[in-house]
Amino acid sequence: MRRATITGLGTAVGREVVTNHDLARTLDTSDEWIVERTGIHERRVGGTCLELGAEAARLALEQAETEAADLDLIICSTCTPDQVFPAVSNRIQDELGANCGAFDLNAACSGFTYGITIGQAQIAAGMERVLVVGVDTLSRFTDWQDRTTAILFGDGAGAVVLAPPSRPDRGLLSTYMGSEGRYADLLACDFGGYIRMDGKEVFRQAVRVMVSASLKVLADAGLDAPDVAAVVPHQANIRIIESAMKRLGIPLERAATVLQSTGNTSSASIPLAMDAAVSNGGIRDGDAVLLVGFGAGMSVAAALLRWGK
Ligand code: COA
Repeated sequence: MRRATITGLGTAVGREVVTNHDLARTLDTSDEWIVERTGIHERRVGGTCLELGAEAARLALEQAETEAADLDLIICSTCTPDQVFPAVSNRIQDELGANCGAFDLNAACSGFTYGITIGQAQIAAGMERVLVVGVDTLSRFTDWQDRTTAILFGDGAGAVVLAPPSRPDRGLLSTYMGSEGRYADLLACDFGGYIRMDGKEVFRQAVRVMVSASLKVLADAGLDAPDVAAVVPHQANIRIIESAMKRLGIPLERAATVLQSTGNTSSASIPLAMDAAVSNGGIRDGDAVLLVGFGAGMSVAAALLRWGK
């Protein structure tokens, strides 16, 4: 099968910084509690999916040295679109000046990894350049009076350009998409409502599905957990990441994290953490990199890739 690899990566976050101290002014909570239970110090809020998504997409295209007009497909993962329809991807397409198919997908916080998986399949089928955008503006669906959810979420976007690698050993090695609909009520948001969740149970199930999805993609690629140089997990809670890394037997230092300053940005969290890891040397050419996301649904997705163009 023809492989796909990431040739460009770009990110964007909401402009306003909301610290734990800011939240503690209006909620019965504290910086200490939030940091200890989640690892989050602050989150970024503001912007629409179109604004954030287009900003990240432009940066990804620039890094990939790809013109928007040369894109074959735009996939936008979001569970917080600006409108019921049209899709955010249609507006991003117009904003970029692209001339290709475009659609949104909703797999909640697993959506970016779902997008990579679908994008890869299109490259295998003959497309040359696919843009995958992960963007969410959860702050618009957060009840800022609810201390059990308001502490967790933020707004952001990340985008990648997928294309066939110039070195055949680079790119996506294996992918997995899962869904456990029986857990759909653990984390939900109704039309006109706010995010509601059973935090403890989400935590428990998240660790389990992260580990099982990770083991699946490792087995499919014929790799063992210690072969993984970097794990880019969904950025929901540092304790979820710690538990999953421990169960996988991968040192915590290999996990890319950005949640300390972004909170949980849903579809954007994996590309945001990936970008941070590339910048700080946590991901290097030739590394085996494991992406693993989970979220409402309960959805889960993992992808294993050999980093590089
Ligand atoms: N500040 C202070 N106290 C808080 C609080 C806050 N922001 N939120 C809850 N509490 C209180 C609770 O009321 C509870 O008090 P009680 O013991 O008197 O009943 C106590 O702290 C412990 O609450 P609990 O819910 O058991 O805490 P926890 O350790 O499970 O942490 C979460 C709560 C939400 C941080 C944690 O469960 C979590 O992150 N779950 C996963 C959620 C998630 O990732 N969702 C998105 C998935 S994509």
